[in-house]
Amino acid sequence: MKEIREPKINLFKKSNPYRAKVLKNIQLTPDPGKGKRPKKEGFASIHRIILEIDHGQFPYVVGQSAGVIPPGEDPEKVAKGSENTGHSIRLYSISSPSHSIGMKEDSVEFIIKRDNVYDEAGEIRFSGVASNYMCSLKEGEEILLTGPSGKNFLLPASDFSADIAFCATGTGIAPFFGMSIELLEHKLINFTGNLYLIYGAPYSDEIVLQNEFEELQKKHSNFHFITAISREEKNSFDGGRMYIGHRIRELSGIMKQIISGNGRVYICGGPKGMERGVIQEIQKLMDDAGDPKEFEEHLKSRGQLFVETY
Ligand SMILES: Cc1cc2nc3c(=O)[nH]c(=O)nc-3n(C[C@H](O)[C@H](O)[C@H](O)COP(=O)(O)OP(=O)(O)OC[C@H]3O[C@@H](n4cnc5c(N)ncnc54)[C@H](O)[C@@H]3O)c2cc1C
Ligand SMILES: NC(=O)c1ccc[n+]([C@@H]2O[C@H](COP(=O)([O-])OP(=O)(O)OC[C@H]3O[C@@H](n4cnc5c(N)ncnc54)[C@H](OP(=O)(O)O)[C@@H]3O)[C@@H](O)[C@H]2O)c1
Repeated sequence: MKEIREPKINLFKKSNPYRAKVLKNIQLTPDPGKGKRPKKEGFASIHRIILEIDHGQFPYVVGQSAGVIPPGEDPEKVAKGSENTGHSIRLYSISSPSHSIGMKEDSVEFIIKRDNVYDEAGEIRFSGVASNYMCSLKEGEEILLTGPSGKNFLLPASDFSADIAFCATGTGIAPFFGMSIELLEHKLINFTGNLYLIYGAPYSDEIVLQNEFEELQKKHSNFHFITAISREEKNSFDGGRMYIGHRIRELSGIMKQIISGNGRVYICGGPKGMERGVIQEIQKLMDDAGDPKEFEEHLKSRGQLFVETY
């Protein structure tokens, strides 16, 4: 049995980055113009990027992130005459389990979306630097990483019998891929609760790794894979877009049991602030009429709520 590692942080910085080689870059969404997303909404290009690493040197734990240093210069810094004109580091959630998939200790994975801004005709107006760099990587290329980063968005460190809910929007699914595998397959701890993954995306073909999650669901009766497809499904409460908050309302009995039974809720993804809607739903179903911030802090202080939104 492999041990859960203590999270190590900031072993590699911009001044001494870790060099990792690209093993695979897999496009998880349809080609532009081929999927369910109408052309005028641009396109969603989400990639699974697998890098070769030595775990002894880069000992990440699932739930942590790594920093990417994009090559080249930042034109704004150049224009300002800054001394250091390199691009800023961008953080990406690690999407592989702590010992890599299959406990092979040979890789680290990410799920990254090209972060572009589109005009009204769906043409690219602005492109994100780091996300496009990562999504265009070729096998064998070398990239520079910092980290590992973060020590607060982690799985239980010892045996856990209560239920857990993972709530993701968009690329917020990244850490939950690795965490689901770690809890259900690698079993670093004895997890005997139910695991609910509630995953929201705009279109059904932008739900990534669906086959993998469905396979896990077939294999593990305590794993429940639930989606909220905002631009294809209508919620039954007001007939508007289906969001993860609506799924939480539908699952109110289960969510109540998670909170009152000392279980955990993890929330990850964007847009920043989306966690508030999710937490409000939980507060309502717990019949708590108090201050929302206090409710959130109370759950966090009890180790029942973990949030990573960006
Ligand atoms: C803890 C954490 C974990 C994260 N995990 C993930 C993850 O797992 N997967 C993931 O995909 N992302 C993740 N992110 C987001 C990621 O860090 C980046 O913020 C994201 O990829 C955008 O970076 P970029 O360099 O591509 O875009 P940037 O170059 O930083 O640009 C940001 C945005 O501005 C737009 N833009 C550029 N120029 C202009 C302009 N002149 N006017 C207006 N808009 C402009 C770009 O198109 C882009 O939409 C995470 C963030 C955090 C903090
Ligand atoms: N991934 C990135 O590159 C990145 C980086 C930095 C910031 N962000 C921010 O994160 C947001 C989502 O990014 P993404 O591309 O990863 O996700 P995405 O694929 O757009 O999926 C996000 C899902 O969450 C839904 N949603 C929107 N607001 C919500 C709310 N308040 N509560 C619950 N669900 C909500 C969206 O619905 P609808 O859109 O259909 O209404 C959509 O179904 C972007 O708007 C951006 O501001 C993303």
